[in-house]
Order: sequence, then structure tokens, then C-alpha cells
Amino acid sequence: MNVVEEVVETRVAVQVTVVIPTYREAENLPVVVPRVAEALEQHGLSAEIVVVDDDSRDGTEEVCADLADRWPLRLITRRGERGLSSAVLRGMNEARGEVLVVMDADLSHPPEKVPELIEALDAEDADFVIGSRYVAGGDTDGQWGLFRWLNSRVATLLARPFTTARDPMAGFFALRRETYRRAEELNPVGYKIGLELMVKCGCRRVREVPIFFHQRLHGESKLSWKEQLNYLRHLARLAEYRLRHLPRLPKFLAVGASGSAVDLAAFALAMLTLPVPAARALAIWVAMTWNFYWNRRWTFFESRRDSLLRQYVLFCLACLVGAVVSWSTSVGLWQYVAFFTDRPLLAAVLGVVAGMAFNFVASCKIVFRRSEKTA
Ligand code: GDD
Ligand code: MN
Repeated sequence: MNVVEEVVETRVAVQVTVVIPTYREAENLPVVVPRVAEALEQHGLSAEIVVVDDDSRDGTEEVCADLADRWPLRLITRRGERGLSSAVLRGMNEARGEVLVVMDADLSHPPEKVPELIEALDAEDADFVIGSRYVAGGDTDGQWGLFRWLNSRVATLLARPFTTARDPMAGFFALRRETYRRAEELNPVGYKIGLELMVKCGCRRVREVPIFFHQRLHGESKLSWKEQLNYLRHLARLAEYRLRHLPRLPKFLAVGASGSAVDLAAFALAMLTLPVPAARALAIWVAMTWNFYWNRRWTFFESRRDSLLRQYVLFCLACLVGAVVSWSTSVGLWQYVAFFTDRPLLAAVLGVVAGMAFNFVASCKIVFRRSEKTA
């Protein structure tokens, strides 16, 4: 291909990129590629298929060169690197389509279901769609031994804290490229790349389309028992990721405590010249600004390069809402829960805790959320 052609080609926008990771799947590719391409064509979707092969040396390159004459296929050969998840990420990074679909090459995932996954993404306002074995209408070939079945079920159960999807282990899924770009700190340990993406892209609206999961057509599975251990490591990393803000809490509380002292000191000073209502307002504002300054500098120091004004406005808003949360929690408890009727102070303490919890979460997720992403 000459340079001009290459430039023209990269400009052509496609709606869908189907990423197929392969390792020694030369026999399956001539079956899966035409079926995927035809299914998409029949639904009027312009598409490209990206095969990411880890230097299989089983004829994959020749087979792909043949197929590329007839179908919109691109082969990426990685040399010196192996792994299902990293191969999938490589394919997604180079994808040109607005929607990304990932599937296996071995015909376990029915190619005719690809358009359905894409439609579910739009029709149901979802941000992640799984081709699922474990929802009504989905199934697997009966030949699964009890052990593989149990293994799959236990693995799914362990993923429960991270997603409510019924089949989070699936290697057949679709998401928008825009959702993929939201991903934070992708870490492709193990082969559950779908689960990794759901968690790290912050997918909240996950839908599942039932599929019949077939036995692979040719060859044998590449995933060894070692991968089961990797899965446990993966879960540990996901837990770490989910709790990544927790170490900031002591700093946040220390800043809050110092802020209370500043508030009282400022109030005492302001009262020398101002009437009480104005002095109170001034003191609260001074303390809030003090808290903002130290949280930005210390608690959330990684975000200190992002827009100061934006953070300041958001922080003040969060404090305001936090105050409302605190007020309504304590007044609500006192008024509606008999236990607190004689214990207004306890209700106030719980209100303060709720307000601070709100402020902390809002600071992590909104005010000091970092704007630049690694994807
Ligand atoms: N590039 C690349 N590199 N591709 C790989 C590698 C690798 O190291 N290992 C596997 N693949 C490709 C295979 O060629 C196949 O297209 C796809 O990834 C899935 O591999 P299989 O070997 O067929 O995996 P499986 O059938 O045991 O597991 C499937 O089902 C699981 C759920 O039961 C996969 O879809 C898993 O992701 C899924 O969790
Ligand atoms: Mn397979």
C-alpha cells in the first residue's frame, strides 16, 4: 500500500470495529471473518475487522492476506508479546470505529449476534453490552464438565462486588469508543478484559444480550489453569482500584478539623468589627477557603495543576450541599426516629458524619477529579 492510499484509508470513518484477538486460529479465521462481515453488512453497518495476532506462525498471516482481498480486514501482528487482554487493548487503541466489539475467533461467539449487541448499545442507552450465557435465552453447549461449570460460576460470583452483570467473564462485548477513552489505569492482568473495562470505564448501564456459547470450532483453548490464579490477582487489583481514595480520608479529616479551628478564630476576630450574622458568614467563608487551599495542596495534591477557579467553585458548591445533607440528616432523625427525639446531639453528630462523607466523596469524584486520562 502506498502512502496516499494509507492516508485516504485512515480518513474513512467506520461505524464499527470488531476486534478479534487470535493465537493459532488460522483454521477458524476463514469462517469467522466472512460471517461477521456479512452480518454487519446486512444490518447496513460499515465496519472494519481488526485481528490482533501474537505471531502464531500457523498461516494466520497468509489467511488474513487472502481474506483482506474480500473483506474489510486488518491484521496486526505482535511479536515478542503474548496475552489476550493486551491484544484486545492494542486492537481497541487502533480502532477507527465509533463502536467497539470484541469477540473470540473460535466461533464460540455467534457472529450473527454482533449487530444485536450494537443495537442494544443504542436502543437501551447502555454503556456496555455483553453477549451473555447466563441470562434467559442464553446457554452453553452441554459438554461442559461439572468442574468447568462450577469454576465459571465461582469466578462469576467473585466478581459480584464489582458488577451485577450475570456474565461478567464474557469475552464477547460491545462499548462505544468514547466510553473506552474514559478508562483509567487499565491493567490487563489475566484475561477478563471485559470486567476490567466495565470497572475502569465506570460503566453503569450494563446490558446483556443472550447468546448460545458454542464449543470452539477448530483447535483448543489457549487459556491455562495459570489464568485462574491471575484472575484472583486481577480481583485484588480491582479492589485496590475501587478503594484508591481511602488513604486520603485521614488527611481530609485533618484539614476539616483545622478548618473548624480557623472558623472559630476568624469568628472571634470578625466580631470585633462586624455584627454576629455577618461575622458568622465571613468566618464560614474563610474556613471553607482554608479547607480548599489545604485539600488542593495536600490531600489531593495530584490535581493541583487543574483549573483552580473551577475547583474552588465546585468545592464551595459541594460544601453547600454537604451542609444541607448534614442539616436534613440530623433534623430528619430527630423528627422522625423516636430514638433520637431525646438525643438531638447524637442526631447532630450523625448529621456531621453524613455531611463530611458527602464532602469527601464529592471531593474525590467531582471537585478534584483529574481531568487528564490515560487511555
Ligand atoms: N492475541 C492473542 N494472544 N489472542 C489470544 C491469546 C493470546 O495470548 N490467548 C487466547 N487468545 C485468543 C484466542 O485465539 C481466541 O480467539 C480468544 O482469545 C479466546 O481464547 P480461547 O482459548 O478460545 O479461550 P476460552 O474459550 O478458554 O475462553 C473464552 O471464554 C471465557 C468464558 O468462558 C474467552 O472468551 C474468555 O475471555 C472467556 O472468559
Ligand atoms: Mn474459546
